[in-house]
Amino acid sequence: MIKWSDDYLVGVEVIDQQHKELFRIAGDAYDLLKNEFVTDKYDKIVDLIGELKDYSVFHFKTEEAHMIDIGYKKYLSHKSLHNDFIETVNKIDLEKVDEQQDEYILSIIEFAVDWIVKHIYENDKLIVM
Ligand SMILES: [Fe+2]
Repeated sequence: MIKWSDDYLVGVEVIDQQHKELFRIAGDAYDLLKNEFVTDKYDKIVDLIGELKDYSVFHFKTEEAHMIDIGYKKYLSHKSLHNDFIETVNKIDLEKVDEQQDEYILSIIEFAVDWIVKHIYENDKLIVM
């Protein structure tokens, strides 16, 4: 189960709302994957992962604009972490996964959530200080 915690709040309303939305998308993907009553869920999961990907790009742009607005000194190194994430996600080719689809998709969801949580604690929380 993937759950938002208020411990993840960084204190900037728009960023916090977008982080919550990332969790909502990841949570929906995870719940669908674990739902034993839906027989054909591959396409839906792929759509949700696409949504996660698109929303991450949108969210990073918001965060980067905010960093520029406040003259944040670590803007470039922070932006390069965002770029690394997008690059990793862009390399995912779900079409190529024939076997163990569930495990593969689960590992993508877990990677994304772990990355986001770590990134919030180690990077996003520093922006507002
Ligand atoms: Fe960030």
